[in-house]
Parts: sequence; structure tokens; C-alpha cells
Amino acid sequence: MAKVCITDAVPEAGLDGLRAAGHEIVSWAGEQPPTRAELLNQVRGADAVLSVLTDGVDDELLDAAGRQLKVVANIAAGFNNIDLETCKRRGIVVTATPGVLFESTADTAFGLLLMTTRRFGQAERLVRAGTPWRYRTTFMLGRAIQSMTIGLIGAGQIGTAMARRCKAFGMQIAYAAEHPMKSAARDELAAVGLPLDELIATSDVISLHCPLTPETRHILNAERLAAMKQGAYVINTARGACIDEKALAEALKSGHLAGAGLDVYEHEPEIDADLLEMENVVLLPHLGSATAETRTKMTGLAVANVVAVLEGKPAVTPVPGF
Ligand code: GLV
Repeated sequence: MAKVCITDAVPEAGLDGLRAAGHEIVSWAGEQPPTRAELLNQVRGADAVLSVLTDGVDDELLDAAGRQLKVVANIAAGFNNIDLETCKRRGIVVTATPGVLFESTADTAFGLLLMTTRRFGQAERLVRAGTPWRYRTTFMLGRAIQSMTIGLIGAGQIGTAMARRCKAFGMQIAYAAEHPMKSAARDELAAVGLPLDELIATSDVISLHCPLTPETRHILNAERLAAMKQGAYVINTARGACIDEKALAEALKSGHLAGAGLDVYEHEPEIDADLLEMENVVLLPHLGSATAETRTKMTGLAVANVVAVLEGKPAVTPVPGF
């Protein structure tokens, strides 16, 4: 029987595979996430760790766990919270949960796109505040997305699922990506691959769907934000640090950009004070994949990875290179 440590609350149904395999489960039951000291203490003696994207998995944590640790299964598509080199050097397998969350995350991105361009967040706040209103042909006008080009940074599963939604609503699809969009999707969506700076300069909405890596940190920096079209929008459901958040606030404050829809933040859960004040910014608390169905599937996939590795089998969805 192996000891499997789960660092935060997860949907119970996702854990069936661990129970069936008869492993000892050590779960974090606290209402607040564990402090770093509590986390280090909790992973002690674990053969496997189910981590979440707020856990920094580094030398310190792996030392605290001990030499018996075989697998770190991140319950997320991203794995920027894990020091991959260190895990590799120690022979620890790292896995993630791609393939099960792209529809839910694209729903969040598209929801933010509509909320932002149609000012739904601002409008809802107005109604709840008891502000007098009446139907008027000039009242709270947004922008029609049907005339717009969406520029996707990243064209993997989530970017492609976002493109499908945008296409269905009459938008033109363009993207810039390290790996080109799959050709069947590209043809079906009439998606145009562009160099990043051309995408930035020609899109009405930029939506981020790339992993956070040293190359994509601040991929939307002050210079690129300034190069966006006047009155354009930014949507981010990827990772906060893909955008220079201060520079985004400045670009919105100056009126260069018309709005932003954000699910993720550079210093999560802190949010830039200026962004919090702006009516043309929609702010969600990192809900990208947050449906009961998807979070259960993500947990189930992380569990399947753990069970496979503990049985000496290849992981189901290893992070590239593992
Ligand atoms: C969520 O942000 C994820 O990477 O799954």
C-alpha cells in the first residue's frame, strides 16, 4: 500500500481509482489551503503527491517528501508551478491533466469575451446597485463581436476550442502559436496563422491560450499592448504572468484598450488595484475549468497517473519529457 498525499480539497468522486487500488490517502482537510510549512509537513513520506497549481513543487518540497516519492500528478493542464529539472534529476515522474478541461476553459474565455464586449459585468452591477435605468436605444451600448477578428496566442486544445466558439459567433480567427493549429481545425475554422507581432497589430481581441514559460512570461508587455489596435480587448484564461498586469492597467486607463476580461492574475489572488476599480474590466476568480464534471475528470486523470506509476507502468498523461 502506497501513501498518496493530496495537497488541497478535490472532488471526492475523482478519488475512486485510488480507493480501488487500496492506497492510503492523506488529504488536506483545512478550509484554508495549507501554509508552506503545513504543506511540507503533509507530503512527508508520500509515494505520490497530487498537487494543485498553487503548490510550488521544488527542491524543498521534494526533500520534505523524501526519497521514496515517485510521482507528482498536477491537477491542471499547466505545470508552471513545478520545477521540472529537479523532478527529472531525481527520477520523479511529473504528470498533468490535458485533454479533459479544454471545453470548460474555452467556455470561460468565451464568457469573458461576451461579458467584456457587451459590458454585462458593468450592467449587472448597475442593476444590483439599484441605479435607475430604462430601455433606451442608446443605453449601455457594447460592441458587436461579429465584425471582429479574434487573435489567439496559443492554438492547442483550449485555443482551438475557443476558436470554434468564436467562429460560431461570426468572428474571424487568427492565431500565433509555437505549434501550429491542427490542420483539420485550421481549415474548418478558416484560421489564419500569423507572426505574433502581426497578430497583435491586427486583432480586435487578443485571447491568451499559451502555457506560462520563460518565453511567454509578459508576452503581452507594455510595448505589445501599445501595438494593439485602438479600442481592442484582452482576454486571459491562461496564466496571469503572461501579461504585464501593471502595463495592462495603464493601457486601459489611457483609453487605448476598450476592455479586458481576466480569470488569472500575475500575483494571484492579488489583483492590481487600478483594475479592480475599472468598469470596463471583468474579473473572475480563476474559474477556467471550474465545473463539477471537469474538476472530477481532472482529479480522476491525476489519480490514473498516480496509480499507473505506482504499478510501475507508464504515466497516462506525462508532462512532455517525462
Ligand atoms: C488551470 O488553470 C489549469 O492549468 O488547469
